[in-house]
Amino acid sequence: MKTAIVIGVGPNRGLGAQLCTRFATEGLKVIVAGRTKAAIEAVANTVASAGGQAVPFVADATNEADIVALFDLAGAELDLAVYNAGNNTPGRVAEMDADYFERSWRVACFGGFLFGREAVRRMLPKKTGTILFTGASASLRGRAGYGAFNSAKAGLRALAQAMAKEYAVDGIHVGHIVVDGAIAGDKIFQRFPDAAGREDSLVSIEGIVDAFAFLHKQPPRAWSFEVDVRTSKEKW
Ligand SMILES: NC(=O)c1ccc[n+]([C@@H]2O[C@H](COP(=O)([O-])OP(=O)(O)OC[C@H]3O[C@@H](n4cnc5c(N)ncnc54)[C@H](OP(=O)(O)O)[C@@H]3O)[C@@H](O)[C@H]2O)c1
Repeated sequence: MKTAIVIGVGPNRGLGAQLCTRFATEGLKVIVAGRTKAAIEAVANTVASAGGQAVPFVADATNEADIVALFDLAGAELDLAVYNAGNNTPGRVAEMDADYFERSWRVACFGGFLFGREAVRRMLPKKTGTILFTGASASLRGRAGYGAFNSAKAGLRALAQAMAKEYAVDGIHVGHIVVDGAIAGDKIFQRFPDAAGREDSLVSIEGIVDAFAFLHKQPPRAWSFEVDVRTSKEKW
């Protein structure tokens, strides 16, 4: 059975969880990976109760041994690998600890390297597979108060683009999805409870998931590297 890995899975109403649900619906066995055991088990149970196949796996995206073990679990049927880890890390540069900056980079950029490298290593022998990375507005532009997150997400995008060019010839499709705006999901609703009343200015999770599914399905003679998604209200 074709297998997908999604790393960076949190609450059920979050992008990671909804990616797992969608790809299980499309017939893939999904390895649901993240740091928080209870959250990934809940998502795997939700997928299973809807008739899909899901396996929870606790992994820290910044830990090399965890990522190697994650890909060992997926085995030879690996078809799709999605790097979705990355919580926002706001803060002004003058007041920022070096450690805070480095931790932000480790999750949003370095983890993408570990994950992308292992995915490519497993996909190269079969010369097929899709690797997708979640981006943000930060991937494309710096913004005051977000220097750590912006620089890490921009680095992740550049890595993804380099990989797309490096491995297309080997049949591996690497893509990047720019989520240009706040997502209508639990992360935002928990941080900003009043956001529930202004959903029309928040990016639809279903719409984002459609973009991932679109890239995954593209035939090798019509590959895109990137899809950007934003609401019609977004000024950009
Ligand atoms: N939410 C937004 O408004 C927004 C907007 C634009 C782009 N994005 C991007 O969308 C993705 C997340 O989507 P989401 O906000 O809906 O959240 P989500 O997919 O519901 O959850 C993302 C999960 O990533 C996990 N994670 C963080 N660091 C990790 C690590 N080192 N190893 C493994 N997992 C880790 C977090 O786990 P813990 O729960 O343990 O922290 C979190 O639950 C990120 O790439 C983010 O940059 C989000």
